Amino acid sequence: MAHSPTPKTLQVATPGSLGPVTPEEVSLLEKLDLARLPRHVAVIMDGNGRWAQKRRLPRIAGHRSGTQSARTTIETCARLKIEALTLYAFSVENWRRPKTEIDFLMALLREYLRKEMPLIQKNNIRMRFLGRMDELPAGVQNDVRDAMEKTAGNQGMVLCVALNYGGRAEIVDAMNAILSERNGHGTSNKITEEQLSRHLYTEGLPDPDLLIRTSGEMRVSNFLLWQIAYAEIFVTETLWPDFSRARLLEALLEFQKRERRYGGIREGQASSEKPARAAGH
Ligand code: FPP
Repeated sequence: MAHSPTPKTLQVATPGSLGPVTPEEVSLLEKLDLARLPRHVAVIMDGNGRWAQKRRLPRIAGHRSGTQSARTTIETCARLKIEALTLYAFSVENWRRPKTEIDFLMALLREYLRKEMPLIQKNNIRMRFLGRMDELPAGVQNDVRDAMEKTAGNQGMVLCVALNYGGRAEIVDAMNAILSERNGHGTSNKITEEQLSRHLYTEGLPDPDLLIRTSGEMRVSNFLLWQIAYAEIFVTETLWPDFSRARLLEALLEFQKRERRYGGIREGQASSEKPARAAGH
């Protein structure tokens, strides 16, 4: 599917962009450089089940509560003028969960798309979905298509929902897309990194520079395997339903404290040359 390229001009939010803020958020915002935010934030929203268990509630109550954190994260990133946000909503491995939980998650997503569309439109957000859409229930596929169509003309943040997503599946799908493009053209050129990137679900988007994972697990869980090659990883013990705007601002601050080296050397220690991307690890 063709997507228009993301705008190249740097758009910077003002401190007032977030509307009313708590004293804790004010103090975090004072430390944050709004011109040096990550371009693409990816989030593994984990811990809904544990959040519910701690309160002796059914797991689905955790998922429902998690939609509030999704809303806060989406709106905050859009208002901070972050270019792209990717949320890991349902993995290819999640089909192994009980059918009742899968059905609930699919229904929750459909409800979310319906209820949150005014917020998405108000914040000028363009929606994309990453994953094998053709394997989803027909109703979900319709709603996904509808959400993309309704927001296709928006110029603000790109919100990607990873749905029936697997990092390995994505790379295999990209390879197959390249093969079918080549069929009949008799081309024998080798596949390049750039060509593979263009065939991933995230085509046209910058790679995530910040990956956030809630609830403390130190795993990447088959998420954006290719794209997170150089991402800073921020793992917090906070369970996803407790992930507030202040916790998000903390993650952004932590990102700004890290040195981005791309395998090169510390900035300012070499000549004016930028460190070469992919020069090491
Ligand atoms: C993991 O918690 C979370 C998910 C399977 C994703 C579901 C996310 C939401 C419902 C948030 C809403 C998002 C959108 C875009 C509508 P878990 O069940 O694995 O938690 P556990 O590890 O504590 O069991």
